[in-house]
Amino acid sequence: MKVTVVGAGAVGASCAEYIAIKNFASEVVILDIKEGFAEGKAMDLMQCASLNGFDTKITGVTNDYSKTADSDICVITSGIPRKPGMTREELIGINAGIVKNVSTSLLEHSPNMILIVVSNPMDTMTYLAHKATGMPKNRIIGMGGALDSARFKYRLAEALGAPISDVDGMVVGGHSDTGMVPLTSHATRNSIKVSEFLSEERLEQVAADTKVGGATLTKLLGTSAWYAPGAAVSGMVQAIACDTKKIFPCSTFLEGEYGLNDICIGVPVVLGKNGIEEIVDIPLSDAEKAHMQASAEGVTKTNGLLDL
Ligand code: LAC
Repeated sequence: MKVTVVGAGAVGASCAEYIAIKNFASEVVILDIKEGFAEGKAMDLMQCASLNGFDTKITGVTNDYSKTADSDICVITSGIPRKPGMTREELIGINAGIVKNVSTSLLEHSPNMILIVVSNPMDTMTYLAHKATGMPKNRIIGMGGALDSARFKYRLAEALGAPISDVDGMVVGGHSDTGMVPLTSHATRNSIKVSEFLSEERLEQVAADTKVGGATLTKLLGTSAWYAPGAAVSGMVQAIACDTKKIFPCSTFLEGEYGLNDICIGVPVVLGKNGIEEIVDIPLSDAEKAHMQASAEGVTKTNGLLDL
């Protein structure tokens, strides 16, 4: 199993680290345009191998796509991250050109790859990769919902005073401060609905904190987060590589599901060796349906800025 991660910045390096530590891939290639940067990150990570007990071979390359050849899974993290006060949508100008080039270059060398898009604005970048490569929709997956759901579970556990392992919940919709739709009606604490424990007001606060999860970290860190984004990607890569059929909310091209068309947006999907193996259509409350509709309108508006 060969995995390529494009972008050796904090998110890319964190993805590579978590994938390696889980020890399911034979090889991880990190590619960056900055001379020597990916090589340095790869060497540093390889020097963790004996300490952390993994056998995954990590190599770094400067912009040489031939070294990514025959990757099973490729991850695009390249592009600029946001600074405090910026929205993810403001990154479209620079990141669209990068994602278009990177996705087509990857496809030239790995025609059977499954592509995971992390660069922001993620739903629009996933849509762009879909249009630019013409790949089948099951093989292009946007990473957003897996991360947003992890942040939702963190906030739910905090509000409940419960361990995170006892909490389950999912965030669908667009990966943006206003577009996320935390499914509070479906969230549980060890199979008991969280509404049994938390007031409507407290749940609204949990949802609000979840939606600005990335912005809160950007303000604290001065740039966007990397540990949880890297962990979310590695979870998705593992589900595909090990064919686990685990459900994650991911951005995928919709053709009528959730009443939406010609858009990539977060919905629950089954991940396995073929990438997205099933889109899971779950019933939403009227309020969640309205949020999903508004979220889709926001993503469609951002997609309108693309030069396709
Ligand atoms: C975040 C970035 C990955 O939410 O969008 O941290």
